[in-house]
Amino acid sequence: MRRLTAEKFSLFFFLLLLFVFSYSVLAAGKSIRRNKPCNRLVLHLHEIIRQGNYTFPNATSAAVTKRVPGLGSFQFGEMYVFDNLVTRDANPHSPQAARARGFYVYDGKDSGNDLYMITLSFNSTEYTGTLTILGTNNHSLKTRDLPVVGGTGDFFMARGVTTLEVDVIDFTTSYFRLKMDIKLYECY
Ligand SMILES: *[C@@H]1O[C@H](CO)[C@@H](O)[C@H](O)[C@H]1NC(C)=O
Ligand SMILES: *[C@@H]1O[C@H](CO)[C@@H](O)[C@H](O)[C@H]1NC(C)=O
Ligand SMILES: *[C@@H]1O[C@H](CO)[C@@H](O)[C@H](O)[C@H]1NC(C)=O
Ligand SMILES: *[C@@H]1O[C@H](CO)[C@@H](O)[C@H](O)[C@H]1NC(C)=O
Repeated sequence: MRRLTAEKFSLFFFLLLLFVFSYSVLAAGKSIRRNKPCNRLVLHLHEIIRQGNYTFPNATSAAVTKRVPGLGSFQFGEMYVFDNLVTRDANPHSPQAARARGFYVYDGKDSGNDLYMITLSFNSTEYTGTLTILGTNNHSLKTRDLPVVGGTGDFFMARGVTTLEVDVIDFTTSYFRLKMDIKLYECY
């Protein structure tokens, strides 16, 4: 009788363990759903490229390499470094939500494309920390999905996808505005 109870007891424990294990595997698999991010931020990035009469301090980016001659007509090899204003509102005169620092380098031989690396630094009452976005930026697409590869601070170990869209592009003032729809699927 005693033995039976002990066997039942261990069986019970075994089943409990199995349940906990399968549940956590299931939960890990289920937690990522495209339409259910654990955090979402819509931000606007403002960039003024230094050229012509648009110089520093107002300019927020500059070319640091020259395009390679004879390698297509898509600025291949040209690299820009930036320190851009990021706001919640599309208006560039609205309060700063973050700084976007990083670079992009044109890497398309026969189409417009660049490798885009952005670190968003937040230092506000809402968030402190960083989010890093790194991926290919295909100019042929109206919206481009780039991976959010990691984060720190309030975004510790974050991962997700950001959808970029060029909202405004003004060649006369060498200004462009980018809408960033950041969806995080891993939040800790
Ligand atoms: C720069 O400014 C000068 C003088 O204000 C003007 O003549 C010239 O057209 C401007 N150039 C550009 C590229 O806007
Ligand atoms: C820089 O911005 C300020 C304020 O918006 C403006 O008054 C000034 O003319 C700008 N300078 C240049 C070089 O664009
Ligand atoms: C963040 O903001 C606080 C308060 O405005 C300031 O004291 C601090 O230097 C800022 N930190 C960074 C890294 O910008
Ligand atoms: C960019 O997007 C266009 C349109 O969908 C596609 O044809 C092209 O192959 C893409 N470029 C790269 C490098 O994937």
